[in-house]
This record gives sequence, C-alpha cells and structure tokens, in this order.
Amino acid sequence: MQKFESYLTTHLPEAPSFHPTFNEALKAMLLAGGKRFRPQLLLAVVDAYEPMICESAYPVAMALEMLHTYSLIHDDLPVMDDADLRRGEPTLHKRYDEVTAVLVGDALNTHAFYMIATAPLHNDVKVALIKELSYSGGIGGMVLGQAIDCYFEGEKLAAEQIDFLHEYKTGRLIAASLKMGAIIAGLDEKEQEELFKFGLDLGLLFQIQDDIIDVTQSSCEAGKTTGNDEDKNSYINHFGLEGSLKRADNLAEKIKEQMANFDLHLKDKLEPILNQYLNRHKG
Ligand code: IPE
Ligand code: IPE
Ligand code: MG
Ligand code: MG
Ligand code: MG
Repeated sequence: MQKFESYLTTHLPEAPSFHPTFNEALKAMLLAGGKRFRPQLLLAVVDAYEPMICESAYPVAMALEMLHTYSLIHDDLPVMDDADLRRGEPTLHKRYDEVTAVLVGDALNTHAFYMIATAPLHNDVKVALIKELSYSGGIGGMVLGQAIDCYFEGEKLAAEQIDFLHEYKTGRLIAASLKMGAIIAGLDEKEQEELFKFGLDLGLLFQIQDDIIDVTQSSCEAGKTTGNDEDKNSYINHFGLEGSLKRADNLAEKIKEQMANFDLHLKDKLEPILNQYLNRHKG
C-alpha cells in the first residue's frame, strides 16, 4: 500500500486555474489520509490473480478513493450530518466554506471517472469499471443510501429497511471495490458476482462498526465528529450497543467462513487485510 500511497500523492488532481484556494482544497481531504479500505480491497483482488498489472490498477483504486472522499465531504456538510472534523482535520466547509466543499466533492466525483478513462487498461474493461462505479457509487448504492439516511432522520425505519439503507449507503461501494478488482483481473461474471455478494456482508459489517464507533469513541480518537447519530437509523439506535456488537460478531464469523472457501491466491491476499478489520468493533 505504500506504493499506492505514493502513486496517489504524485497523481493528485490539479485544476488549471487562478482560483486562490481551489487546488489546495481539492487535495486536502485526499492527503488527510483515511484507511484506504476500498483501494486495498481492489488491489488485493488484482494482486491475487494478475500481480503483473497491479500498477495499472492504481488509477482505478485512486478513483474509488476519490469517489469515497467526495461522499465524506458532502456527508459532513451542514445540510447532511453537519460535522466539523474529518480524517483528523477540520472538514472542508469549516476550513474553507460550503461552496468550496460542495464543488470539491463534485470535482472528486467527476475526476474519479477521468482517472478510470485514462488508465492503461483495455477499453472494454474501463467501460465495465465505469458502469460498476457509477451505479454502486450512485443511484444503485451510495447516493440512494445517503438520500434515505437523511430523509428518514428522526423517523424509525423497519428492520429490513435498516439493512437496505446501510447496504446501499456503504455496502455497495465496498462490494464494488472487490468486483472492480475482479473485472481488472479478468475473472468471469460468476466470480465477480460472488465477490460482490461477499463484499455486501463485509460492507454491512463495516457500517455496523462505524455506528459503534460513533458511540464508543471520542471525536479525537476517531479523527471525525462522533456522537453524531442521535437522529439516525443507526444500528445502535435500533439494536443498542450490545445488539450491534452481537450483529457485528455474527457477520464477522460469516465473513471468516466465506473466506475459508476462497481459492488460495485470494485468501492469501485478502485475509491479512480483513483480519485488521473484522474485530474493529471490539476496540
Ligand atoms: C467512513 O468511511 C464512512 C463510511 C462509509 C462508514 P471510512 O471509515 O472508510 O473512512 P476513511 O476513508 O477511513 O476516512
Ligand atoms: C456515511 O455514513 C457513509 C457515506 C456514504 C459517506 P456516516 O455518516 O455514518 O459516516 P461518518 O460516520 O460520518 O464517517
Ligand atoms: Mg452520514
Ligand atoms: Mg456522517
Ligand atoms: Mg458514522
């Protein structure tokens, strides 16, 4: 991941402009760090099957991180979650202003697709990647999830609607990260779908853990505003801390069992990464 990180820092977007702060703002949240979970997943799949083309996949891994970063910048805006801290730094609308945060988010979203379009991969592969990211990061995933998350603030959803909300908001982009790795590695459609389904469980676990962090960690520990889900349809508000921990444990077990059935190449690359995350809710 160190190599990917240096790729990212040397390929940051740069607008051709006399605007005094836009370029700095464009880069700020990408440079602030984050776990890079989605790029790690994509690159692990490519590395498992086609290690020789790993570097050609960097722009695509970076596209995922850009789209995810845009979703965080918009998520923190006053009209959404109204948060002051992200990745250990003041949120963009605090450091600059709301206009800048909205437009940097827009720019990272569109530039993600520029990164894929200009990657050194076959055109048919790139079209498949764009199809996946635009849908799972858009109305077939993250954007729809965020719309539901915000619309139903203060109004309790039914249990199956909770899973739908979190699957769309977070699960589908994580599932897409694995599937996009499979597309680059040239796996067939059945294998791509299997990885996507596995990613949905992983993504749900990731969001349950995130909801747990909102009530168990300080903003300083988490590097982002916590204690912020009071009116949300979070797992905590539906199932309590104990119930959420139990759900996370059960999902982590299910994921481990599924991983045991992966072929050896994939297991080798994915297991060390996932082992860092499966117990994240235990602190
Ligand atoms: C936070 O994502 C928002 C969710 C979708 C749960 P991450 O926990 O991946 O945030 P970073 O990228 O590490 O900052
Ligand atoms: C946001 O979920 C998920 C996104 C699609 C950005 P949260 O609102 O729970 O994410 P955090 O806790 O602010 O990182
Ligand atoms: Mg939110
Ligand atoms: Mg939030
Ligand atoms: Mg959260």
